[in-house]
Amino acid sequence: MRSAKIVGLGKYLPPRKLTNSDLEKMVETSDDWITTRTGIKKRHIVEKGMSASTLAKYAARQALKRAGIKSSDLDLIIVATITPDTQFPSTACYLQNHLHARHAACFDVSAACAGFVYALTCAWQFISTGFYKNALIVGSEVLSSITDWQDRSTCVLFGDGAGAAVLTSTSRGGILSAYLGSDGSKGDFLILPGGGSRFPSSHETIDQGLHHIKMKGNELFRIAVRIMVQAAKKALKKAKVPVRDVKMLIPHQANIRIINAVTKRLKLTPEQVYVNIARYGNMSSASSAIALCEAWEEEKISRGDVIVLDAFGGGLVWGSTVIRWI
Ligand code: ACO
Repeated sequence: MRSAKIVGLGKYLPPRKLTNSDLEKMVETSDDWITTRTGIKKRHIVEKGMSASTLAKYAARQALKRAGIKSSDLDLIIVATITPDTQFPSTACYLQNHLHARHAACFDVSAACAGFVYALTCAWQFISTGFYKNALIVGSEVLSSITDWQDRSTCVLFGDGAGAAVLTSTSRGGILSAYLGSDGSKGDFLILPGGGSRFPSSHETIDQGLHHIKMKGNELFRIAVRIMVQAAKKALKKAKVPVRDVKMLIPHQANIRIINAVTKRLKLTPEQVYVNIARYGNMSSASSAIALCEAWEEEKISRGDVIVLDAFGGGLVWGSTVIRWI
């Protein structure tokens, strides 16, 4: 049975940084509150005019270069995003055009913070069946474009960025298993209500702030820990890999307290869990993509290691992928 392996990783963070002390000047908050409640110290924010496909382009170019694969050899491009350039065309189509990847089929995945895990699973399936050989997946978000900068309960949490992975067919190792789940009954826990067909953009939707993220943070927090533990265990069971064999867990970076609780419940040591939330905040689908890229750049992942991606987000959606690094 063939599988897919990651042969190149890339990332892009827009240069502008927004620190907790910058936020102290914008809303009633403090560095101490943000740090202790979330673990976030700063986040990167785009300059006006930079869209998800722009961030994706820089991350993708780096991943392709590292993979030694030409964009013209890509069969598939999947972009995971909840902040697409436009409702349509898809951000993947814009990215194809930026990269001149003229042979690639393109589509977007909307799975919020679990988007990169969903995209990875889709690409893996296309490749393992032999339908495609080379795929590019990108988690790219401009969350600053849907953030209410006057709402202290959400604006301190999010950042912008993109992470990319190039996958190709392999006869050994690579992705061993994946587990995906959803619960549409809790969609209102994390939602961008306006601008879709339910509430098309109008003066009224703007006046009501429906073009901004609405979040029930407390409810999500409780579910996130339980679901992320469950997802990782289910994916590992499918791969027939015991938790003790995990070299590195790459969790979604929503809150350091969620990550610590997941670490504890999975009986992992802090050294086995990659954390970069302090530098970037929550970048939705880009978070696990960038965390994976940085874990690799920092040589925390070597050949033969078992890596587990584990993510949870609005939908609700969640997923975990087990990879033997080769
Ligand atoms: N600064 C200062 N005080 C604040 C701030 C702030 N930025 N934000 C809220 N507070 C206050 C609240 O008003 C409240 O005050 P009160 O007690 O007087 O009413 C108090 O702090 C506590 O607020 P809580 O919301 O209970 O704080 P909590 O400890 O739950 O932390 C947080 C909030 C960080 C949002 C947390 O609940 C969380 O991380 N939730 C999970 C988020 C998540 O997993 N999202 C899913 C993935 S994201 C995606 O899919 C895009």
